Formats: sequence, C-alpha cells, structure tokens
Amino acid sequence: MSQVATRSLSDRFADRTNVFGTSIWTSILSHKEKHPDPVYFGDGAPAPELLPISRLAHASAHVWEDATSALNYGDSQGYLPLREWIVNHVANRGIDAEANQIIVTAGSTQALDLAARVFLQEGDAVIVENPTFLGALEIFHTFGVEIIAVDCDESGMRMDKLQDALAAHTNVKLIYTIPTFQNPAGSNLPLDRRQRLAELAREYHVAVFEDDPYGDLQYSGEVIPPIKSLDDQVVYFGTFSKVIAPGLRVGYAVAPQDVITTMLATREVSDISNDRITMRTVYHTVQDGFLTGHIQECCDFYRSRRDAMLAALEREMPAGVSWSKPDGGFFVWITLPSHIDSERMFDVAANYGVVFFPGEWFDPEHRNNHAIRLSFSTVAEDRIAVGIKRLGEAIRSLQ
Ligand SMILES: Cc1ncc(COP(=O)(O)O)c(C=O)c1O
Repeated sequence: MSQVATRSLSDRFADRTNVFGTSIWTSILSHKEKHPDPVYFGDGAPAPELLPISRLAHASAHVWEDATSALNYGDSQGYLPLREWIVNHVANRGIDAEANQIIVTAGSTQALDLAARVFLQEGDAVIVENPTFLGALEIFHTFGVEIIAVDCDESGMRMDKLQDALAAHTNVKLIYTIPTFQNPAGSNLPLDRRQRLAELAREYHVAVFEDDPYGDLQYSGEVIPPIKSLDDQVVYFGTFSKVIAPGLRVGYAVAPQDVITTMLATREVSDISNDRITMRTVYHTVQDGFLTGHIQECCDFYRSRRDAMLAALEREMPAGVSWSKPDGGFFVWITLPSHIDSERMFDVAANYGVVFFPGEWFDPEHRNNHAIRLSFSTVAEDRIAVGIKRLGEAIRSLQ
C-alpha cells in the first residue's frame, strides 16, 4: 500500500476534539496493573450483586413476544408508558411534570449533551461546582464555552460565591449543579441554598441544569427536595444507571415544554430514538412497584458499605486527613494534607494496591489539588477494610 493512502487524517480533525485528552480509563488500567490484587474504589456504578438480571431477562422476553411495532422507527421522545411511569416516579420527589415534558435518552449523559446543545454557543459561560462531575465538564468543553467554577463547602455550592460569579460574568447561560449526594464530593445541598440558587437563577435569567442520578439512594439524614420541585423552569436529569444498570443506557430529562421540543429536534438528527426494545424492557422491569422495593434493598446494602468505609477511615487515616460523611450516593471525598498532590497520591497508592480517582480530574480549574474520590458501591466490606488500610500506609509514606 502507498504511503499516501495510510497517512492519518487526525490533522484534519475539528479543533473541538482537542478536549479529549488521554482517556482516564487508560490511566486507571495502567494504575491497576501496578499491583497483583488492587482494591478499586473508582466505580460509580451499582454493585453487581444488586443487578436485577432475572427481572430484566423476564421483561425482555415479554417485550420480544410482541416486538413487531417496536422494531420500526418511533418513540423519539421515549416510550409513552415509561414516560408516564417517570411522571409518577419524580412526583415522589415533589416534581410536578407531564409525560410531554419528559424525554428519554441514552443515559442522562445524552440528555445533558442535548440540553447543552439547546442552550450553549461560543462566547457563553457555564457555572459549575468545584469539584464537579468530569463527564459534564467534558460535555461543556466541546462547546468551547467558558467554565466558571464556584467554590463549595461540605454542604455543597456556596451561594455567596454563586452570586459573585453571576454578578461578575454577563455571559452565563446556565448553572450546572448536582445538589443531591454530589459526584464527587458526596454533599447534600441544604434546602435554603436550593431556594437561593433558584432565586438567583431567576434574577439573572440563567437556566439551571439539575443532575440527580443519586437522589433515590439515601441512607440517612433528612430528605431534601430537588430544586426542580421548587422551580418548574429547571432542567432536571435522571437516570436508571444507578438503581438498575448503566449498561442499559436509559436516562431522561424533565424540562419545560419548549426545552423538550428543541431537545427532541436536536436528538432526531443524531440517533432518532433510544433502542425501543430496551425502553420497553426497562418499563416492564420497574413497573408494578418493583423499583420501590429494589431501591430499599439497594439503600440497605449501600448503607453497610458506606458505614464500613467510614469506620475504616476512622481507624486508618493519619492526622491531617479529613473526609465527607455522605447521607447517600456512592462517594466519599477525602481531603489530604495540603502538601500531598492528588495525582501523586494516585501514583503512589497504586503501588500499595489501591486505585481511585484523583481530585484533579473533577477540578474545573486544574489547580493544585489535594483531594481524592473513593467509591464504596462495588467493593465488599472486607475489601474496603483492606483498601483503606493500604491507603493509610500510602499517605503515611508521603508524610
Ligand atoms: C453526576 C452524574 N451525572 C451523570 C452521570 C451519567 O449517568 P448516565 O449513566 O445516566 O449517563 C453520572 C454517572 O456517573 C454522574 O455521576
């Protein structure tokens, strides 16, 4: 074959593709390979023990029995019975919506991307929490927008800092927030801050994107309603990834009608619809009250793992280390002494046999970072004890 024919075309790629650096998964893999038996605290996914596989298989078989119409094009906005089920589900969280204000998507990631396409263009700015979900940062980066990071404390985004950011930047289009059991910090934004956030968004006429993948997974503390329940203009994102399985790729957005209509038009040029068989399978899996019982089971299971992690941290962490005590979700956020850099900790801990996500990956400003995120959802309690002991040894080695 001639040289011309084999030349890479990567120099012809669009500039916006520059935001995709070396995959974090490559880095995770190489760190896992540093030890014969690593404890991995990186998964933001359900425990394999909790996957409702037989119920899914049963639901899928039922769907295939009468699949002719589902195998045609259709359901761009989402399978109607599933959207009606979501109406009832979010009503339990105080959200008042109709089925036509919901779009079903390939995970909440796609919903976030579609909503971002509706709102964002070059020159705009997005306000995010610091730290925040790195998947959202990657989406916003593809639009070439300015990212403005607002500081958080142990309860979540600080409203004084949010107000300062809104006052200082006239190009803000939206505030992206994960108020409930935040990824990565595990915080739960108090009600008065949620009210204030909605108030500020109205005052400055900016959209609120409320990402809520963990709201159903609460193990202790008071239940705080979503911002969407306080203000119907909020664009709210939900998912079946954390309570059923991420591999199904079924999530949704609940938003005002004009936002949904434009998201729908946007998605039709991309993938037309979700997989129609999977949407029906999810519907037949969750209906008849199954999900309520399943969520209860998940909460009991994860509560034990969270408690095991908090107890191990109490035993093993040296002085100068602090950590969040989340009431729900999957994550504990560890703050290391300020002389320990998060990426360095990532490298050193891997040699001790413990792998996690360094805080740097969640930092919109990539400042000097000295935090790490540990997920307890997929690690058995005896392995949590082993992993946290190793982490303690790794931290001591840097002191
Ligand atoms: C805050 C947050 N948003 C969105 C997602 C993506 O979820 P999905 O699988 O529904 O795309 C995750 C998954 O880790 C998450 O933590």
